[in-house]
Amino acid sequence: MFEITYLQLIIFITLIWIITRIVAAIKMKGFSIKREIRLLLVYVCIAVIVRLVYFGFHLKNGKIPTLKIGFGEDIHDMISITPLYFLVDRYDGWRLNVIGNIAMFIPVGIVWPICFKQLDTIKRTILAGLGFTLFIEVSQLFCLGRHTDVDDLILNTLGVAIGACIVFTVRRRRHHKLEEYMKKKIGVIVDIIMYVILLVQMLYVFIGNNIHELLGIGFFLCLIIHLSMKNWWAKTILKKNKPASRRFFDVITILLVITIIILMLSSMGVSRFLFTWFHFMGSADLHRYLATAVLTLSVIHGGMHGYWHAKKKKLAIVGIVIASIAAFSIGIFGVPFINRQKRSVEISYADKQPEETVEWQGNNTLVVYFTRIGNTNFEPDVDAVSGASLLMSDGEMMGNNQLLAKMVCDITGFESKAITLTGEKYPSSYSDTIVVAGDELKKQARPEVEPIDVTEYDSIILIYPLWWGSIPMPVATFLEDNDFDGKTIYLIITQGSSGYGNTISEIEELCPNAEVVPGASIYCEDIPDAGEQLVELINNWNMGSK
Ligand SMILES: Cc1cc2nc3c(=O)[nH]c(=O)nc-3n(C[C@H](O)[C@H](O)[C@H](O)COP(=O)(O)O)c2cc1C
Repeated sequence: MFEITYLQLIIFITLIWIITRIVAAIKMKGFSIKREIRLLLVYVCIAVIVRLVYFGFHLKNGKIPTLKIGFGEDIHDMISITPLYFLVDRYDGWRLNVIGNIAMFIPVGIVWPICFKQLDTIKRTILAGLGFTLFIEVSQLFCLGRHTDVDDLILNTLGVAIGACIVFTVRRRRHHKLEEYMKKKIGVIVDIIMYVILLVQMLYVFIGNNIHELLGIGFFLCLIIHLSMKNWWAKTILKKNKPASRRFFDVITILLVITIIILMLSSMGVSRFLFTWFHFMGSADLHRYLATAVLTLSVIHGGMHGYWHAKKKKLAIVGIVIASIAAFSIGIFGVPFINRQKRSVEISYADKQPEETVEWQGNNTLVVYFTRIGNTNFEPDVDAVSGASLLMSDGEMMGNNQLLAKMVCDITGFESKAITLTGEKYPSSYSDTIVVAGDELKKQARPEVEPIDVTEYDSIILIYPLWWGSIPMPVATFLEDNDFDGKTIYLIITQGSSGYGNTISEIEELCPNAEVVPGASIYCEDIPDAGEQLVELINNWNMGSK
């Protein structure tokens, strides 16, 4: 048995892809960039399907689970040959499973006949799709924990059939003049879909992470179609004697292309579902700024087409300016506002409580945490307010870090203490707290906190939020107020984008004679489901691994 990660499999598929394309180019004694770009649609379809089919849907410790290749103990557990068994309501996620299995293969039914001229009928396309899904199902016999299911075969093929019907209906209606039809109507439809996706993506707080990422893939698929249809534009860039509006359009379009490429990297960097192995540009804020830039530039880019067709040019310019200011404001002000107001997480602790406990092998340990709740002047009615970035556990307000501390204590049986301000508390408004915290950081303030005596403990599990890329200043006060010489400080951090910021070196500087052991950096939305990750982390600490 051996394990393989999604990244390794994608590298393998990419290598095979490149070799195949080179062999094809040699055989055909030619190479068309347009065709290669179009074929990238097939590559993207394969990459997404591989992610969803071979690797567990839910992340494990914030990562895509690995694929274990080998033979299972009992082959009967790995195969389901009863057709339409999905019609029986057998588990919670069956609806998503049915819709997902169909939806995942619709792009195959659309893209393959566009890319492969041999697939010139619905029947051939469905047969090719059936062959593809059969290959996937059979190959899962050699994947531990995966299931070969005749229902998947049926649902996937249904997806291919739906996609194929869409393409061939369009073709038939246009008397096979697909090229011409695509250039006109489909081009406009794809552009509209791209604008809609960009706007819907801004409503991240409502659609959730996984749909956001899948829509992102949809956006880039549409972009490939858009680029392959508008490739004439690249040839006109260097043309001389162009009117000013054309030159302006060129500049905007070049900026748009560059921003989209950077956005693509940043999308992979912040991904928590499809590209968890990609660790470059993982800032959620940067991602939002780039998405805002893309939305604004796209509005100007599209608006210029309107300008050329408009009779009243001045009115068109006013329209473009207003629309681009609106697009910019949505990304810069609207999205954070909605997130702050609407991001409410309500949980029942009984559902989230870690299932396992861990026998701690180390010595006397205390859990210390810092959170906004208890350190903030909330208005008396705040717990009646749904949202405002607050976590409600069984109707009671709870800080992210407080919830983690509770989970760690449930797993280990340790006691926990909260770092609590004795003086002025933070303002109730989230954005005001950000300003106050920024000020404190600049001044390296040390707000007074209630004393926590750590003398009788050999190790501390410190759970804290990332504030301005640093430790909150009350945490600095706690660390300075105590003597940590010879003690071990295990770190668990929560954050709204990624990583530990500067906090590890800051803590090492404040406690020079302590052993500082980073453990986990948990994204705020992942906190309610972090139980399993914490169990694994504490087990690792038990084994002395850092
Ligand atoms: C004042 C303040 C500053 C923050 N700064 C950052 C930051 O620089 N980077 C980041 O990823 N998240 C940042 N966040 C988000 C928090 O780290 C995150 O929401 C955390 O889980 C909040 O924990 P709590 O609910 O226990 O207070 C900040 C939050 C606040 C309130």
